[in-house]
Amino acid sequence: RKRLTITNLKKMKQDRNAISVLTAYDYPSAKLAEEAGIDVILVGDSLGNVVLGYDTTIPVTIDDIVYHTRAVARGAQHTFIVADMPFMTYGIGRESTLRNAAKIMQEGGAQAVKLEGGADIASDVAALVKAGIPVMGHIGLTPQSVHQLGGYKVQGKLDKDAERLINDAKALEEAGAFSIVLELVTEPLATLISDAITIPVIGIGAGRGCDGQVLVYHDILQYSSPYFEKKFVKSYADIGTTIRNAIQSYVEDVKTGAFPEEEHVFAAQPAAVQSLYG
Ligand code: KIV
Ligand code: NA
Repeated sequence: RKRLTITNLKKMKQDRNAISVLTAYDYPSAKLAEEAGIDVILVGDSLGNVVLGYDTTIPVTIDDIVYHTRAVARGAQHTFIVADMPFMTYGIGRESTLRNAAKIMQEGGAQAVKLEGGADIASDVAALVKAGIPVMGHIGLTPQSVHQLGGYKVQGKLDKDAERLINDAKALEEAGAFSIVLELVTEPLATLISDAITIPVIGIGAGRGCDGQVLVYHDILQYSSPYFEKKFVKSYADIGTTIRNAIQSYVEDVKTGAFPEEEHVFAAQPAAVQSLYG
């Protein structure tokens, strides 16, 4: 199949064809997501939480993102791949921002980058787009600012915050972003924002009025993630339990000698060895 383009994604919004996005962080997760028919893969800095075991996304480095994006790019050669720019790799001066985004695309192999922030980073977004780098915005709950926001809370509940979010979405569209992630926002506000701009809004915990949905791989699979119990996550399998049980059985088999069995062993014995030690 052919890899989708940002033009295809904008057309999907016009056609009310919902866009499916899932995170992936390595070769097998990317390969399985592509085989399952996902529209877009996001190499999220959520890898800090679900793959590297950090409490927040703040410790994730550009090298972490490049390393994981390379594996994803090998596993999903026909899927549009967006990779997150980590904390403090953008909004720190035009040249550094451009270099960091270029690294993610050239060394990682992503087709686009995602940045957290609205009007405040719009000039960065415009510069990236001008340089030929497709940019996805990310507003609402922005996990890289968790300490500034005072926790992982639903955003846009006050009038002034809702107005700011609408302005941020418009600023990102104006700056040339091809899409926006809207995280942890009430359904009415998310619907209003989706209707107010022409670029696709991909929601996570943002209700049914968005143009697409994104969730975290480990969350929907219950793959050892502490996040799948969140209200906005739907789980589609319990891979964590499956894996733990399988490893338990393996340990038991090794201890009891039930593994290896006849079928797993190489039984042929050279004749000379046979006659010497047979
Ligand atoms: O890092 C991530 O996985 C994300 C999505 C949750 C949007 O940014
Ligand atoms: Na992220």
